[in-house]
Amino acid sequence: MKPPHSIQITAVGAYAPSKVITNDEMAELVDTNDEWIKSHTGIAERHIAEKGELTSDLAYKAIEDLLRRSGRKATEIDGIVVATATPDFPGFPSTACLLAERLGSKGPALDVSAGCTGFIYALETARALIAVGTMKNALVVGAEKLSDVINWEDRNTCVLFGDGAGCVLLEAKEEGVGIQDSLLKAEAAGSASLTIDPKERHITMDGRSVYSFAVRTIGETIISLAERNNLKLTELDWIVPHQANQRIIAACAKRYGIDQDRFYLNIDRYANTSAASIPLALSEMQHKGLLKEGQSVLLVGFGAGLTYGGTLLTWHQS
Ligand code: UT7
Repeated sequence: MKPPHSIQITAVGAYAPSKVITNDEMAELVDTNDEWIKSHTGIAERHIAEKGELTSDLAYKAIEDLLRRSGRKATEIDGIVVATATPDFPGFPSTACLLAERLGSKGPALDVSAGCTGFIYALETARALIAVGTMKNALVVGAEKLSDVINWEDRNTCVLFGDGAGCVLLEAKEEGVGIQDSLLKAEAAGSASLTIDPKERHITMDGRSVYSFAVRTIGETIISLAERNNLKLTELDWIVPHQANQRIIAACAKRYGIDQDRFYLNIDRYANTSAASIPLALSEMQHKGLLKEGQSVLLVGFGAGLTYGGTLLTWHQS
């Protein structure tokens, strides 16, 4: 089989539950306040799913948004790769299979677990499966119902997270550049610093060490992907980072000499939605008309594992 000329993101979609919880409302639950949350993280509010609304429901709504916006049909979908830390079923079936059933898709369907780097890992998994001909296109989804694994009594973590889903359609094309390069890494010695405790089913985190890890690995990923593709940092039109803390981005931009305006941030309205944060941001950027033909876009994530990684691509309008 001849490898495809290029593999591109050709459509995007997103969904955030309608229920919004503000920082003031969080202050009614735990000893916190709007000023602390905003100044330490940049978060103003988060979307929280209803009790009966599961990760696959959020993902399905994001896919409906993608199909509506792109005019594509569910029957055109071949494979489904879902990044999530909060699958409907802790073991099996995978969230991707639940979505495949709802979409009537019969191609490969699998979940990827890489914490908040999940979307980057899922994108690369899908790209590889398309490149070798296992599937002709794929929905790559990042979806999380983190409200189910938040300890709502722990102010150190409960203010940081939200629920949501985003997705892209990835497909082989005869023209254009699409995904140029990617980098996937794990520093597993740090795995204990960010977990979903198996007994309590709650997120536990050593915030300071994850913060330092994030600043360093985001910076190194951006520099490395730019350098090995002969791009100056000023030639990157957009950097779309995992949205965990506005201060992480500011510190990274300062340390590595990257213009902060190149980072797209929407953490103020969604908080940290883990694997969903990058596709949620991409979807919003497309809605706002910020993504234009031929732009260099670098996606970069970090999270539990500890994992990190990035994807460098040329944006194509379809
Ligand atoms: O997606 C990947 C997952 N996570 C992350 O990327 C998170 C990375 N880490 C961070 O973003 C930051 O470390 C946090 C936002 C989690 C914390 O910010 P910080 O500036 O590192 O604060 P800290 O943990 O050093 O805490 C400072 C103080 C403490 O009080 P004392 O001990 O100085 O009296 C905390 O108890 O802030 C207190 N604190 C709070 N106060 C009000 C912690 N959480 C809160 C809160 N409201 N919600």
